[in-house]
Amino acid sequence: MTDAKPIPPLDLKAQYATIRDDIHAALDRVLESQYFILGPEGAALEKEIAAYVGCQYGIGVASGTDALRLALTALGIGPGDEVITTPFTFIATGNTISHTGARPVFVDIDPHTFNIDPAKVAAAVTSRTRALLPVHLFGQPADMDPLLEIARRHGLRVIEDSAQAIGAVYHGRRVGSLGDISCFSFYPTKNLGGYGDGGMVTTNDAALAEKVDVLRRHGGKKKYYHEVLGFNSRLDEIQAAVLRVKFPHLDDWAARRRQVAARYDALLADVPGVVTPRVLPGVEHVYHQYTIRAQRRDALAEHLKGQGIGTMIYYPVPLHLQTMYADLGYRPGDLPVAEAAAAEVLSLPMYPELTQEQIARVADPIREFYGA
Ligand SMILES: Cc1ncc(COP(=O)(O)O)c(C=O)c1O
Repeated sequence: MTDAKPIPPLDLKAQYATIRDDIHAALDRVLESQYFILGPEGAALEKEIAAYVGCQYGIGVASGTDALRLALTALGIGPGDEVITTPFTFIATGNTISHTGARPVFVDIDPHTFNIDPAKVAAAVTSRTRALLPVHLFGQPADMDPLLEIARRHGLRVIEDSAQAIGAVYHGRRVGSLGDISCFSFYPTKNLGGYGDGGMVTTNDAALAEKVDVLRRHGGKKKYYHEVLGFNSRLDEIQAAVLRVKFPHLDDWAARRRQVAARYDALLADVPGVVTPRVLPGVEHVYHQYTIRAQRRDALAEHLKGQGIGTMIYYPVPLHLQTMYADLGYRPGDLPVAEAAAAEVLSLPMYPELTQEQIARVADPIREFYGA
């Protein structure tokens, strides 16, 4: 361990220091109002986020997981249905499909972007397929055009898991406006993170928006009258107020993340044993994570830990090989690209406040490890 201050994978305190006074003012505003659920902060945030992503409707919910659960439910997906998704994602992408009673069908990923490989999707469509659920992993949009074309051809709905990618752009349009319905997470570590759980559904479909709104309030628009089986899943006013302080900074923070990524790219470009992230043409990446492929990944992570550099592995086990999905019958080797990624990926420290000196302190020991 060196004497220098450790560099964590994410430093939320560094961000808090820059917005502290505004956060306290916003929290005060909510506390003075004593209005905590489905109030003016949430309503304003819904409008702000919907306008930003290019959608007519935003519906604040209790988490990104609930955004997926309510979106799938609003689409009427349930037992007997299949939903095609990626195995290389956070568990919520899959378990929310399973909670509806539908079956997740995992399709392998593109080795360069880590996102679902559209070329492999069509072959997975069956008479039971109802929807595609691509994930914009690490902040890079999935390749949506071919996915939307497959959906159109087969009459499928498209749900975007935009949890990691708020602000990312695909051919001139922001994620969250590309499919039928989209799901965002405001988990504290996300690019736009609250101080607790939170999420949002966005859509341009008025009927779907209405369904999600009703589902989040126990299945009824009018209090104590319930038309459908619903949930309790609302974004609270404290979270909405925090998010509204952070939201105006989001694009600047994303630009800064891109600068950090460009610096890592330059410092790691010629390192044998390391593959830096590849960005699709026509795409604006928001680098929720900066994820490399690394030979001898676990040894590299240990080496960095010894230098006080924190790294993360997103994700060590693809969904199709999770114990909870043993009954789906997948075997090691079924989705080799995702399995190789799980063995090689390493996410380096990534947050807007990283300094040039800190970036170099991450890259130098990587270069040293591979003898570059
Ligand atoms: C890809 C993906 N989907 C869904 C979720 C679920 O979001 P939440 O943690 O807000 O429930 C997350 C984040 O945690 C995520 O990264």
